[in-house]
Amino acid sequence: MTQATKNSQTKQSRDPVTVFAPISIGNVSVGFDTLGMAISPVDDQLVGDVIHVSESDTEHDQLECTGNFQQFLPQQKEANIIWQCLQEFNQQLQGQDIQVEPVKLHLEKNTPICSGLGSSACSVVAGIYGLNEYYNQPLAQQQLLELMGDLEAKISGSLHFDNVAPCYLGGMQLMIPEGEKISQAIPVFEDVYWVVCYPDIKVSTRFAREILPEQYSRQDLVTYGGRLGGFIDACYRQDKAQAFSLVKDVVAEPYRTTLLTNFELVKNSLESIGALAVGISGSGPTVFGAFDTFEQAEQAKDIFDKQYIRASNGFTIIGKTDSEGARRI
Ligand code: HSE
Repeated sequence: MTQATKNSQTKQSRDPVTVFAPISIGNVSVGFDTLGMAISPVDDQLVGDVIHVSESDTEHDQLECTGNFQQFLPQQKEANIIWQCLQEFNQQLQGQDIQVEPVKLHLEKNTPICSGLGSSACSVVAGIYGLNEYYNQPLAQQQLLELMGDLEAKISGSLHFDNVAPCYLGGMQLMIPEGEKISQAIPVFEDVYWVVCYPDIKVSTRFAREILPEQYSRQDLVTYGGRLGGFIDACYRQDKAQAFSLVKDVVAEPYRTTLLTNFELVKNSLESIGALAVGISGSGPTVFGAFDTFEQAEQAKDIFDKQYIRASNGFTIIGKTDSEGARRI
C-alpha cells in the first residue's frame, strides 16, 4: 500500500476486542526490579484488569470504567492511565501512517490500586495490548513492551519492567538490562502454589521506593548477585531446594516491613507450616508465600485471612504461575 493510499483510508469498521491482563509478583524477593511472575488463581477466576475496545459511537474517544476498584481511579479522564495509553498508542500509529480512529475504551478495574500486585501494569498492559489487537497488531512485541514500560514509569516514577513484562508475556520474566532484549522467560516450578494476600492497606510504589537506601554495602551487593545468580541457575536445573533457599531479599524487604502491619507474625506462621519462601509482592502491601502442596496453600490462606487482612476489600488467592500473560477473552 502506498503512503498516499494509507493516508486516504476511509474509516474502517473494526471488530470489538476484549483482553485480560493478570496480576503479578514483582521482585519475587530475589530479583529487585529484575524478576517478576504472572499469577492466576487455581480456580480459573480472572484476577487482573479487563479492557473492551470498540468503535466509538461519537466522533471522539470515550472512556468508561467499572469494576471492584474503579472508585479509586482518578476522576479526570486525562489522569487515567488508560487514557494515557490511548494517546501514546495513537502516536505510534501516526508514526506508522496508520489512520487513528475514535474508540470506546471500557476498563474493568478489578485489581486493587497501590497493592503490590502490579495494578498499574495490569491496566497499562491491557490497554496497550487491547488497542494493538483492535488495530490488528500493527506494533511488534518489543515495541509494545517498551511502550508499556514507559507508561508504567510515568506512574511509579522510575522505569522497571518487573510487572509489565510478566503481565504481558506470562510466566516468570527476568529483565535484561543491556542489549536489545528487555526480558527473558525463566523456567518455573510448575507444581508450586503461590498464595498472595492483599490486606487492603495502600502502599504507593513511589513512596515504597523513596524509603529505600540510595546506596548499599559491598556485602549486600555480593549477597544480592549471588542469590539471584544461584536462583536462576536452580530454575534452569529445576533444583527446587536450591532455588527457594535463595528467595530472600536484601534490597527492599528489610526497609519496607515497617509499612506492613503483622508482616513478621505472618511470615513466622507461614514458615511454621513449611513455606518454601515468604516475601513482599512488588512494593507491597501484598505478601506472597510459596508452597509445595495444595493443603499447605489452604492453611496459608487461612493464616493470611486471619492475620494479615486489615479491611473489607482484602483477599487471599491460591494461585500458580500464569503462563499466558495478556490474552483475548
Ligand atoms: N520492583 C518495584 C519495586 C515495583 O519493588 O519498587 C514492583 O511492583
